[in-house]
Amino acid sequence: MNIIVCDSYDELSESAAKIVAKQVNEKADCVLGLATGSTPVGMYNVLAKKNKAGEVDFSRVRSVNLDEYYPISPDNPQSYHYFMKENLFSKINIDMANTHILDGMCKDAEAECERFERLIESLGGVDLQILGIGQNGHIGFNEPDSSLNSHTHLTKLTENTISANSRFFDDISEVPTMALTMGIGTILAARKIILLANGAAKRNAVSELLDNSITTESPASMLKVHKNVILICDRDAYPGGANV
Ligand code: PGA
Repeated sequence: MNIIVCDSYDELSESAAKIVAKQVNEKADCVLGLATGSTPVGMYNVLAKKNKAGEVDFSRVRSVNLDEYYPISPDNPQSYHYFMKENLFSKINIDMANTHILDGMCKDAEAECERFERLIESLGGVDLQILGIGQNGHIGFNEPDSSLNSHTHLTKLTENTISANSRFFDDISEVPTMALTMGIGTILAARKIILLANGAAKRNAVSELLDNSITTESPASMLKVHKNVILICDRDAYPGGANV
């Protein structure tokens, strides 16, 4: 695993955006796997600036998103449809028809997950997947468990994730308890992965990503079997950070 330890969140955001822009510049119609949450917001801002400055062109880029709450309407400001529009799609020249997010309003979750797997296949697979990491080691909404689902699936969120995400809602009771998410196998099928981790709250999860074990109780530890992963973190998230 390649590791980039940054001095600040701004540096982390710049570093991640540089890798995404390079990917798009090398393959104009590449497939980006996108993530939500607070961590990638800075990177999306840098990408929007680069797009405006003519340094990167998203007009032919295709995108798929990692996950979406379930059930949730795309108009709900807490939905990941809304997040992506607000934080990236409205700020860059991507064709909305080329952006794909799991449907939080679908009637048949199993069929929707199957559709999404086939869609990724039909796009030729993900060239670059962006990931955040949960305090509990989740990637996407693959929560720690005794076994993990390889494919895109409907999942129940853990108390830890509901509590961590409650900061975006007026009340914890409003946080959805279910989500649709790419599976671990879906994520590992990406040709390249960058994982972003910022702040001391992520340090334990990052330690488990860097130790020698692979365990379903730390879903991010599964990334150890992938040959092309870059961890980009700040010193607070990096175990032993201040000494790096
Ligand atoms: P965060 O979420 O970026 O808001 O910390 C990351 C995640 O839960 O994957």
